[in-house]
Amino acid sequence: MGNRVEEALLDKALAQEKYLIASNILHDIGNAVIGLSSYVTRIRRLLEQDNSENLQNLAGFLKSQNDSIATAIGPTKADAIVKLVSGIAQTQKANQLDISNANLELQKIINHIQDILNIQRQYINNPDTSEKREIALKGLINDCIAMLLASFKKRGIHISIDVPDTLPLFIGDRTKLMQVILNVLKNSIEAIDIYASDKFVSLNGSASRNWLTLEIRDSGRGFDEETSKKLFTRGFTTKKTGTGLGLDHCRTILEAHDACIDVSSEGPGRGALTRIKFTV
Ligand SMILES: Nc1ncnc2c1ncn2[C@@H]1O[C@H](COP(=O)(O)OP(=O)(O)O)[C@@H](O)[C@H]1O
Ligand SMILES: [Mg+2]
Repeated sequence: MGNRVEEALLDKALAQEKYLIASNILHDIGNAVIGLSSYVTRIRRLLEQDNSENLQNLAGFLKSQNDSIATAIGPTKADAIVKLVSGIAQTQKANQLDISNANLELQKIINHIQDILNIQRQYINNPDTSEKREIALKGLINDCIAMLLASFKKRGIHISIDVPDTLPLFIGDRTKLMQVILNVLKNSIEAIDIYASDKFVSLNGSASRNWLTLEIRDSGRGFDEETSKKLFTRGFTTKKTGTGLGLDHCRTILEAHDACIDVSSEGPGRGALTRIKFTV
């Protein structure tokens, strides 16, 4: 008997140890990736201040002045200078394009790593993967909105929440469900053009006999039918630096909750509606 207790204690200590190691690793990788990301951003900024056009203008100017330069230093030298400068201008432009593409790919990889880290962090924070308890939809939503409030404000997106606190409670893993809602809200934020005039995200909660439904509507760019078929395919993304892991991850979590999710749109430019249904 004593042995079993000892074994159980040892198991617990080992699990605790593993948990600590894993969370330290995630923390360190996370910090390293943030450092990496800041340099990639810096390179992108520098690239945006692209001055290859100046050099091209100079090449064009020298070409137009070929005759006067030839009078001064002779036609052979003039020709060589004009050719040299326009060659440099061309190479610089091509290199800049290459660097810019590589920078974009690098940012994609960083986003991918960050998405994976976020997913792993959840398991770490919640080693008992089936930690389910009673949840109030309203509280869940309020916590998610609080986390993204700065993003909404920065982009001038209006949020409206209509989730009555009289809705029935349901059973679930709070951390994982927050991840689902955060993913969906992030997609909405990313779908809304910063220059649009009427920017909103609205959340609506309702209950019927067997279902608790959360609808998240946005005024974003929406999508066509072809895209709608692929939304949940792991790795499908239409974003420059997207990973296409978000919705797949949402669906996996929701399926483990006997819940379902669908994302629809009336077409490009007409926003999107994400509907999540929990059984009660
Ligand atoms: N609210 C939305 N409005 C428009 N398109 C959306 C919306 N949500 C998801 N999508 C589409 O679904 C794709 C996949 O989403 P997701 O799995 O979260 O990956 P990611 O956000 O990394 O692209 C997005 O790239 C986008 O094309
Ligand atoms: Mg996403």
